[in-house]
Amino acid sequence: MTLRRALGGPWLALLGHLLDQVQKHRARRILDQCAAVGRDVRLRMPVVVYDPQSLRLGDCVDIGEFVVLRASGGLTIGSRVLIAAHAVLTTRGHPKTLPRYGQIEDAPLLVEDDVWIGAGAIVLPGVSVGRGAIVAAGAVVTHSVPPFCIVAGVPARPVGEVHGSGPIRRSES
Ligand SMILES: CC(C)(COP(=O)(O)OP(=O)(O)OC[C@H]1O[C@@H](n2cnc3c(N)ncnc32)[C@H](O)[C@@H]1OP(=O)(O)O)[C@@H](O)C(=O)NCCC(=O)NCCS
Repeated sequence: MTLRRALGGPWLALLGHLLDQVQKHRARRILDQCAAVGRDVRLRMPVVVYDPQSLRLGDCVDIGEFVVLRASGGLTIGSRVLIAAHAVLTTRGHPKTLPRYGQIEDAPLLVEDDVWIGAGAIVLPGVSVGRGAIVAAGAVVTHSVPPFCIVAGVPARPVGEVHGSGPIRRSES
């Protein structure tokens, strides 16, 4: 007898509902610890956030599954920002010289309004991603990205510009 038959549809539905509630609760707990959170912020769990007390989120932010945000050095994410699954935004670094273990060199990271960060991209400490910019899937961003620039590759280089956008609203956060 399959598990589905043994438990029956309603029990599986209840289990799914409970798991859903647990994920929502975990997302809410993370957001409650953040330095600032705007309205309509969605964490598609599981999302991992280190040092949420140093994370600031604007309005209408959508953060995909398996994203890792390491905010110890100060991570600010503006409004209407999309961060796709498996992206990593980190403010954490270590010295290149020894001793390294246990030594920390954090630097802030800023993602301005209307940015789209593609799946699996990595954004490194000290970087700013300018307003309206796009970071392509799989890019590794080592330098700041100008507004409305599209960057791709490892290391990320400009491959285009964002054209023809409608009026970009000012951040309401
Ligand atoms: C960034 C992106 C939007 C660019 O789209 P586009 O403007 O149609 O890009 P193009 O196909 O015209 O590519 C422009 C150049 O950048 C390169 N490029 C585009 N995306 C790239 C990527 N992820 N990595 C490396 N190079 C990339 C293209 O090969 C092309 O180079 P070429 O001119 O030498 O051929 C798209 O490639 C992307 O990465 N989207 C993210 C999708 C995603 O993560 N979805 C998850 C859910 S939100």
